[in-house]
Amino acid sequence: MTRILAVLAALVIAAAALAGWFFFWPAKLIQVQPSPNQPTGPALIARGAYLTTAADCESCHTAPGGKPFAGGRAFKLPFGTIYSSNITPDADTGIGKWSDAEFVRALHQGIGRAGEDLYPALPYTSYALLATDDVLAIRAYLATLRPVAQQPPANTLGFPFNQRFVLRAWKLLFMPTQPWQPSPERDAQWNKGAYLVEALAHCGECHTPRNVMFAMKRSEKFAGAIVDGYKAYNITPDAETGIGRWPDAEISAYLATGHAPGHGGASGGMAEAIKFSLGRLPQEDIAAITAYLKTVPPQRSTLSPAADPHPVTLASAGPWSPGPDGGADPIGLRIFASACASCHGWDGSGRQTGNASLRGARSVNDVGGANVIRTVLQGVAVTSPTGAMPAFAAAYTDDEIAAVANYVIGHFGGKSGRVTAKDVKAARN
Ligand code: HEC
Ligand code: HEC
Ligand code: HEC
Repeated sequence: MTRILAVLAALVIAAAALAGWFFFWPAKLIQVQPSPNQPTGPALIARGAYLTTAADCESCHTAPGGKPFAGGRAFKLPFGTIYSSNITPDADTGIGKWSDAEFVRALHQGIGRAGEDLYPALPYTSYALLATDDVLAIRAYLATLRPVAQQPPANTLGFPFNQRFVLRAWKLLFMPTQPWQPSPERDAQWNKGAYLVEALAHCGECHTPRNVMFAMKRSEKFAGAIVDGYKAYNITPDAETGIGRWPDAEISAYLATGHAPGHGGASGGMAEAIKFSLGRLPQEDIAAITAYLKTVPPQRSTLSPAADPHPVTLASAGPWSPGPDGGADPIGLRIFASACASCHGWDGSGRQTGNASLRGARSVNDVGGANVIRTVLQGVAVTSPTGAMPAFAAAYTDDEIAAVANYVIGHFGGKSGRVTAKDVKAARN
């Protein structure tokens, strides 16, 4: 009974929010002006190029194998697929005809040119924190790109998710209404890091857990979340489940290259963020991000496992031999020996390249194996030019991938893996 009442109350609140939002909806375009500090000419374009990289617009707005910024990348949601837009300056299929005010409105309020509400797959809950000058600089840079005439495929969302106006109530509840405000008590490096993490690089969009309404939980900021099936781990300074024990140099190395000694390599969305964005940023930006992350409130996470760099299973392993635990899982062991050991070795240090080291990696310490399964299925193409990992989805059955996943969790993490063929099947879809 109380549950029914709670649901009714929630519906009434939602309806009221919806009505309120319609009344206050800023249908009128807000005219925008650059501030007197905004650079002009080539300096403006250079600033815009830098900001476009830091905000990682390219990775979402480029289809696999497609032309940069021409859109068409698919985002699969539980209720259908949406496609990113063409943001090259093509007049008909891109944003060539958009005014500056329309562009700022899209990033700050999530509203398209015709006034339609955009899906938060465009991370405007973070971009709303961008300074207007910076949005205008991004716009100026995008206008210098070569126009590409390419219409992205139509979205396939079913009712009611194809009713864009429903997003208005959501935005009323969950959108920041002010750009990011620097904190006068903190130094310039901290403020730079905060702006990068919160607004531009939108780390929280992947690393902050979401509530039932799919909004980021402010009280659990950066505590870790699931993105495309991968665990985007806890990045708060919690010692066990977060990055509290990582020295600054390790955090910076991981963010700039996807690798740090004693930790696994970056795969999934993190590998992409590094390829298109973080890996292209100047060293002082990486240092600022690192400094800021060290100051966010620590959160203990149930999603992120603690990582043990010295499991007993590795104590007697050598680069060429698994040592006595080798017999634990014959199928997993056999697959690892034939398909994986040539790159990864047996002692966790990574045989061909330190980039393939697995000792201390969060992924192999997670008994559910979310990231191990996906890395084996999809490979890692992007962060390691010197030693990428091939995809094994076509090479092995679900049972075999479950066996090898449990083997690496057992051998490199020293834990009993619980990966089943069903988990692998689910990850394939
Ligand atoms: C995480 C993925 C992601 C990132 C990062 C991203 N976008 Fe998008 N963007 C999308 C998707 C998906 C859409 C389509 C949304 C819809 O149809 O409602 C979109 C839509 C847009 C639109 C509306 C275009 C139109 O024709 O209606 C603009 C403008 C835009 N993005 C610009 C940017 C810029 C500039 C950046 C970087 C500052 C950026 N986006 C970063 C995913 C992303
Ligand atoms: C051609 C070399 C190569 C082969 C073969 C290979 N890997 Fe990898 N693997 C790598 C490299 C390099 C990385 C680090 C990738 C990166 O992040 O840049 C990696 C990463 C990983 C990770 C860490 C992912 C994470 O998120 O921490 C796991 C687990 C893994 N491999 C398991 C396997 C298994 C199991 C096999 C065999 C089925 C295998 N690998 C075969 C090179 C290889
Ligand atoms: C598109 C989603 C996405 C974005 C954006 C993103 N991350 Fe990640 N991040 C991930 C995923 C997924 C992993 C796990 C990678 C793995 O297992 O290989 C990860 C891993 C990490 C790790 C390693 C944690 C560990 O314990 O091994 C750090 C540190 C990190 N991210 C920091 C950041 C920071 C800082 C930002 C913003 C500047 C950021 N990430 C933006 C998805 C993302």
